[in-house]
Amino acid sequence: MARERWSGKLGVILAVAGSAIGLGNFLRFPGQAVQNGGGAFMIPYFVALLLLGLPLMWIEWTIGRFGGGFGHSTAPGMFHTLANKNRFVKYFGVIGIFGPIVIFVYYTYIESWLLGYSVFALRGLYNRCHDHASMTAFLDAYRGLTRNEYFSGLATAYAFFLITFAVNLGIVAFGIRRGIERVCRYALPVLFVMAVVLMVRVLTLGSPDPAHPENNVFSGLGFLWNPDWSKLWNGAAWERFLREPGLSPVRLAHLGAALNGRVWLAAAGQIFFTLSVGIGVILTYASYLSPRDDVALSGLTAASANEVAEVILGGSIVIPAAFAFFGPVAVLQSGSIFDLGFKTMPLVLQKLAFAPLFGFFWFALLFLAGITSSISLAQPAVAFLEDEFNLARKEAALVFGMVTFLLCHLVIFGLGAGVLDEFDFWGGTFGLVLFGTVETILFGWVFGMDRAWSELHIGSDITIPRFYRWIIRYVTPVFLLVILTAYLIQDGLPLLTLRNVPPERTLPILMTRIVLVLLFALLALLVWLAWRRKASPQGAV
Ligand code: PFF
Repeated sequence: MARERWSGKLGVILAVAGSAIGLGNFLRFPGQAVQNGGGAFMIPYFVALLLLGLPLMWIEWTIGRFGGGFGHSTAPGMFHTLANKNRFVKYFGVIGIFGPIVIFVYYTYIESWLLGYSVFALRGLYNRCHDHASMTAFLDAYRGLTRNEYFSGLATAYAFFLITFAVNLGIVAFGIRRGIERVCRYALPVLFVMAVVLMVRVLTLGSPDPAHPENNVFSGLGFLWNPDWSKLWNGAAWERFLREPGLSPVRLAHLGAALNGRVWLAAAGQIFFTLSVGIGVILTYASYLSPRDDVALSGLTAASANEVAEVILGGSIVIPAAFAFFGPVAVLQSGSIFDLGFKTMPLVLQKLAFAPLFGFFWFALLFLAGITSSISLAQPAVAFLEDEFNLARKEAALVFGMVTFLLCHLVIFGLGAGVLDEFDFWGGTFGLVLFGTVETILFGWVFGMDRAWSELHIGSDITIPRFYRWIIRYVTPVFLLVILTAYLIQDGLPLLTLRNVPPERTLPILMTRIVLVLLFALLALLVWLAWRRKASPQGAV
């Protein structure tokens, strides 16, 4: 059967930008920026964009188009071809199907809250909440964590989840051009317009509280945009590093503290998540390109669109609005990334004229941004079943739907026990860096930089500056290995030994991990089976 193709350059760029622009831009980015010191966060953020994000974007577009040329839409087959049919490398590619499934499962659930909240905004359902505490009570009851006057169970949340899930599957079942591309063509311009309207409204708020003129939108913008170099260097920790002998974990920890490693890790993690790189999704999208379609300029354009949506739009809505109405102290205390989006924003928008409409704009914008991302997360698994097991697209979507539907229930009912965070760590944080490291090494070292560079430039509309050859070969992999090691030292051990897990959560967390390991094993088994089928004369296609 002929491979599906995008309708053209604009189609694929919109699809990749649609994948990249999501909840990460409007919720996760401001949340991370607030938690990591605003102007201190933005420096590592831009460094990570140039040294990790952009190179990975090019690497994935190139590997994807290359693999598509051999009939592969997912990482196992692509890595297999790239590494000269080495028997083991394809199992690293399993992460490129596993990771998107794991993210899809919790991402779709959060997306469904946004659909719920868009309806609540229009109907004024949360208007009785006038402070942070009552907004928290509203959100917690909606998610079934408590029961109160707002909701007495999960029924509403579950209904919105079912709708959201069905919409996602429906789009994917329509395929690349008639499903994914068509939705992105409409959703992206609409969400840009909505975001611009909200941004203009927020930026014209000035200082809304005459008693506190110092709380204004500019203080929010200043918080984000005044670079704060001092926070990137901790002299006392550096002294301790110099004094400690040998290469002990304690000494490394001092080094991490001296360089403020946590902020760097957070910034790199945000770049990965927001650009949808290091996970296999862009590989799959790029596999539907024709052999001579440009990847260099298209990858750059998609990344740029995402950055505009993130730092300009995403950075000019929540943070300035929150600073103007609540002041820096309250904002800096807001803990999770959901606080700003689900509590602070509705409180702010409630105070404006046309509150229901602005509230709707905010949540509908997020919902649309979410949909164009979650469909991209579904595509690798669906494409894997299509390519390697010859399932028809609708059958593949159905199998994917059944498995992920079951998994979603773990997240929905295990929310209070921390299951969502567990999914997010393995799929949305650790998995990305690990997979990104593997593909960078495969590209620059195994495939070879000369071939890689010419492959990247086949049919290209621009020539990438030559120093990126050097960055891709040396800087990106070293940067990635350092991050990976830091994750392992800082989070890995305490995490594996469940050190910070309260006793009542131990069982659900362990169960979640067992499920994740089983899922990974199942996918690895499928890869093994697929290659066995190919090797046997009847299975050969
Ligand atoms: N980039 C998306 C966002 O910013 O919300 C999230 C995402 C989508 C991550 C697809 C990874 C991915 F493969």
